[in-house]
Amino acid sequence: MPRACVIGWPISHSRSPLIHGYWLKELGIEGRYEKTAVAPHDLAAFLGKIGFDGLQGCNVTVPHKVAVLDMVDRVSEVARSVGAANTIWIEDGLLHATNTDMSGFMTHLKASAPGWSADAGPAVIVGAGGAARAIVYGLREAGVPEIRVVNRTMARAEQLAVDFGPTVRPCPMDQVTRTLADASVLVNTSSLGMTGNPPLDLDLGSLPDSAVVADIVYSPLETRLLAQARTKGCVLVDGLGMLLHQAVRGFELWFGKRPTVGPELRSLIIADLEAA
Ligand code: ATR
Repeated sequence: MPRACVIGWPISHSRSPLIHGYWLKELGIEGRYEKTAVAPHDLAAFLGKIGFDGLQGCNVTVPHKVAVLDMVDRVSEVARSVGAANTIWIEDGLLHATNTDMSGFMTHLKASAPGWSADAGPAVIVGAGGAARAIVYGLREAGVPEIRVVNRTMARAEQLAVDFGPTVRPCPMDQVTRTLADASVLVNTSSLGMTGNPPLDLDLGSLPDSAVVADIVYSPLETRLLAQARTKGCVLVDGLGMLLHQAVRGFELWFGKRPTVGPELRSLIIADLEAA
C-alpha cells in the first residue's frame, strides 16, 4: 500500500493528514498518510526508509526544512532558491526534494484574485522568513516589478535582496505606510496575527482600494489584516488556500493522481480549525 507522512519535531499541530486523508478517500486510493515525529538526530535514518515498505515520500516541517537539502540526491531549483524543502519523494531510486509553498501561494493568489496581474505595481511583503522567501521567489518569477520586504529585523530583509536581486527592496517596519501607497499586492508572511500572537497592526489608509491583500496566517481564517482590507473593499486572499494548494503536488507525486482543492475540503479544515 502506498504511504506518505509529514515529519517534524514536534509534529502534533499538522493538518496535512486531514488534507491527504480526504483526497485518498475522494479519489478511492488505498493508501495512508500519517504524522511521524522525527527527532533531528534521526532524520537521515528516516530518509533512508523512503522507497521501502510502500513509503513514497514525505512532507517536511519545522525544524527539518533546511537540513533535508543536504540529505537528498536532487534538490529542485525552487527549493534551492528558497533555501528550504517541504516535499520529498523517490523517483528512479533517487531521493528528490522540492518546495511547494511558492506554487501553493501563486495558485491560490491567481484563483482568489483573477483580476490581479504581476505588472500592476509593486508588492509589499511583511516578514522575511522561509514563507517570505517562497513568496518573493514566486512574485519575482511572475514578473512583479518591485518587491518591498518589510521586516522587524532589517538584516533578514536585506539578505532577501542579496539572494533574489535588485527587484527586492528591503524596508524598515516603521516605514511600512509609505511603501503601501502604490502597492498592487500586500502579503503578510510573518506570524503576526496568528492565534496567540499579537496582530499585524498596519495603517492601510494609503493602500489603494484596488489592491490585493493576502495573509498566510489561517488561524484565525480572517486575521485583523484581512478584516481591515475587507472594509476597504480590497480583494482578499486567505492563508488556508495556500495550505491546501501546497499539498497538491506531494499527493500527486506519492499517490499518482492530481487532487483538486474544492469547497468540501476547505470546510473540513475550517471545522477542524474551529474545533481546535
Ligand atoms: P517562517 O519560516 O514560517 O516564515 P520565521 O522564519 O520564524 O518563520 O519568520 C517569521 C517572520 O515573522 C519573521 O519575518 C519575523 O520577523 P524577524 O525576522 O524580525 O524575526 C516575523 N515576526 C515574528 N514575530 C514578530 C513580531 N512580534 N513582530 C514583528 N515581526 C515578527
